[in-house]
Amino acid sequence: METAQSIRARRTLKVLADPDRPFAENDGSMAPLLGEILETAGHAPFHFRAADEHRVGALSSAVPWRCHALLSSTCRKVIDWAQREEMTVGKMNNMLAAADACVLVTWLPDPPRDATAELAFQGFEPTLRNMEHIAAASAAVQNLLLLATDRGFSSYWSSGGMLRSEPAYDLLGLDRKEVLLGAIFLFPAEIGDADAKPGKWRDERGALDTWCRTVEL
Ligand SMILES: Cc1cc2nc3c(=O)[nH]c(=O)nc-3n(C[C@H](O)[C@H](O)[C@H](O)COP(=O)(O)O)c2cc1C
Repeated sequence: METAQSIRARRTLKVLADPDRPFAENDGSMAPLLGEILETAGHAPFHFRAADEHRVGALSSAVPWRCHALLSSTCRKVIDWAQREEMTVGKMNNMLAAADACVLVTWLPDPPRDATAELAFQGFEPTLRNMEHIAAASAAVQNLLLLATDRGFSSYWSSGGMLRSEPAYDLLGLDRKEVLLGAIFLFPAEIGDADAKPGKWRDERGALDTWCRTVEL
């Protein structure tokens, strides 16, 4: 697809399957495809390198984001875990039952300038650098959404609900220093009789001149 076409074709669609009748798992075909999509999505711009404290272990990149990819079999296991732990799930389990993948995208806040200060879980200082880390991670998310659209998936950028919690971080092996920017759901085009809901604000963006002006001097 042309870039402009992909941008216009991307739309939020939340596919809701019955957690007791999840869609078929497809890790084998999805893993290489998702790898390709994520590798390309990672060509997003970034202004500052991630702080050293984030660049440890296998995920040592300088980019200020991290992606934790849950293939369909893992999504279905998270449903079982959430039921066992009696998590407040909202519609999360319905989406985990339908997803071909869910990518948890985090961004990496700088450590507090006062080294003795402790940041709360998912807390961060309101610095320009942190804003730009979030901006860079968001660019990577939009790349991911557009590439997924090109490949025929419908998608949903969720704040993450229960996946933002400390127990979910621990279950899925996320470093608590990372801040979840979104749980990006990718759904198959073919959804049978499952329910699907569009984004709430889809038709509210207005015409160009309601959010953009030309500056003249
Ligand atoms: C950072 C971010 C977080 C979002 N989180 C949620 C969410 O938790 N729940 C939700 O219903 N939609 C969420 N959305 C999706 C928006 O509702 C959706 O993008 C909006 O309604 C516009 O629709 P469109 O994506 O089809 O253009 C989120 C979008 C962004 C950018």
